[in-house]
Amino acid sequence: MSNSPDGGTLKNIVSHCKEYGFIYPSSDIYDGLGATYDYGPNGSELKNNIKEYWWKAMVSMHSNIVGIDAAIFMHPTTWKASGHVDAFNDPLIDNKDSKKRYRADVLIEEYIAKIEGKISKEVTKAAKRFGDSFDEAQFVSTNPRVVGYKEKIQSIEYRMGQALETGDLSDLKLLIEELEIADPVSGSKNWTDVRQFNLMFSTEVGSLADGAEKIYLRPETAQGIFVNYLNVQKTSRLKTPFGIAQIGKAFRNEIIARQFIFRMREFEQMEMQFFVQPGTEMEWYEHWKEKRIKWHKSLGLGEEKYRFHDHVNLAHYANAASDIEFNFPMGFKEIEGIHSRTDFDLKAHEEHSGKKLQFFDQNTNESYVPYVVETSIGLDRMFLAIMSAAYEEEKLEDGSERTVLRIPPALAPNKVAILPLVNKDGLPEKAEEILNEIKFDFAYQYDVKDAIGRRYRRQDAIGTPYCVTIDHQTLEDNTVTIRERDSMKQERVSIDRLISTLHEKVDMKHLLKSLA
Ligand code: GAP
Repeated sequence: MSNSPDGGTLKNIVSHCKEYGFIYPSSDIYDGLGATYDYGPNGSELKNNIKEYWWKAMVSMHSNIVGIDAAIFMHPTTWKASGHVDAFNDPLIDNKDSKKRYRADVLIEEYIAKIEGKISKEVTKAAKRFGDSFDEAQFVSTNPRVVGYKEKIQSIEYRMGQALETGDLSDLKLLIEELEIADPVSGSKNWTDVRQFNLMFSTEVGSLADGAEKIYLRPETAQGIFVNYLNVQKTSRLKTPFGIAQIGKAFRNEIIARQFIFRMREFEQMEMQFFVQPGTEMEWYEHWKEKRIKWHKSLGLGEEKYRFHDHVNLAHYANAASDIEFNFPMGFKEIEGIHSRTDFDLKAHEEHSGKKLQFFDQNTNESYVPYVVETSIGLDRMFLAIMSAAYEEEKLEDGSERTVLRIPPALAPNKVAILPLVNKDGLPEKAEEILNEIKFDFAYQYDVKDAIGRRYRRQDAIGTPYCVTIDHQTLEDNTVTIRERDSMKQERVSIDRLISTLHEKVDMKHLLKSLA
């Protein structure tokens, strides 16, 4: 039984992550640094496993996708060309009474989410009233109250979209005032004007005496791919459609940095740019939407936890965009973006660098600047999604409680715990023998301290899917018990079969095969 319908509450997850070595506040001894976090021993293992699952699914399983690892520092003109110097802004608004700062568009989106909540309540009520005969689609398209709510959402979205697109910040403020949106902290409606704030961090290269040059910490990994696209295409002899993938750090001076690792100032992205013949981009956009949602759902965190959110306000580089949203403890929020970026970036780099970035298509005998479909997922958000779906405070039949992390076994930080029942009678020596065999195949824990029940609980709390117990019978017949984390069921297996049994249960290859 979980402590909330969507798994753990954020507060419980944050403290669990710290207590069990997943995530610590950065520079903890100095009371931390806002929106910056460090991953501990279990956290870094889980993070590496997520990266591996993404990399294998995107690169290893596609003969036309290759990976790169570009530098974080890039020539400053990159960011002029990409539009980030001029347009990578957040519209900010301050509340004059509470002195708190907010993103104006987020305040409006939260207002919309409240209306959506009202629609959901109407649907739930009606579903109860009508029972089996309830037709949700018909209800939401005909019920006057729901139709009214939907029209209101549409008109707000349209107006916000127009204001953001045209840069009409005064209308954004007017909208906030007309909707009577109050400061979520103080309830005050006393707002300043809306201002634009650039999110890029800058620093200098070279000494000041020599005339240092201002450069930026990359706000997305994608540009490292764009500027390398011809190098990679030529050296890997790729033909459209082909992809280039990358995992790496990105930096944004987020003003509203809260909700743990959901919105950080230093975070990691896993991005893939797919280069296609112009005119085919919509087909590939749909293709990657489908592929990416399948990847998410393959992890078994719950199909109902995902939904698409198609963008009304398109970023400056996109002609279509959709978010995959995940139901985090704080509600449905973006975990991944799929964007049809047209030829915006490559054309802009051609213009600013003076270099041709065309691809010669031998099939059609023509040269063109490819269009790009991008998939971009935040590694830290993926981590939080897994933690929030996996965390459970469970009441057991005997009345006791345990906290268990039901992390998909292939991603779990440790696959197996080796537990000698007692710290004597030759059992630790036998355990060590086994450990020396399995350590080449699996990340493991070894624990000999405390009663076995307590040791099981410790492994449950860090999501170890299997515990192998070595007892006195082991010395007689060379068998051990394997205890499964979720069901807590135990089976006895021969040590000769231990490694193959574990491979069957935890190997990532089974997940990858489900994607094929
Ligand atoms: N190259 C496209 C791009 O960067 P984005 O929607 O700005 O698009 C992509 O970011 C993904 O990066 C998001 O879906 C999210 O998962 C992650 N992300 C963005 N900002 C983040 C932040 N401040 N903290 C953690 N993850 C973030």
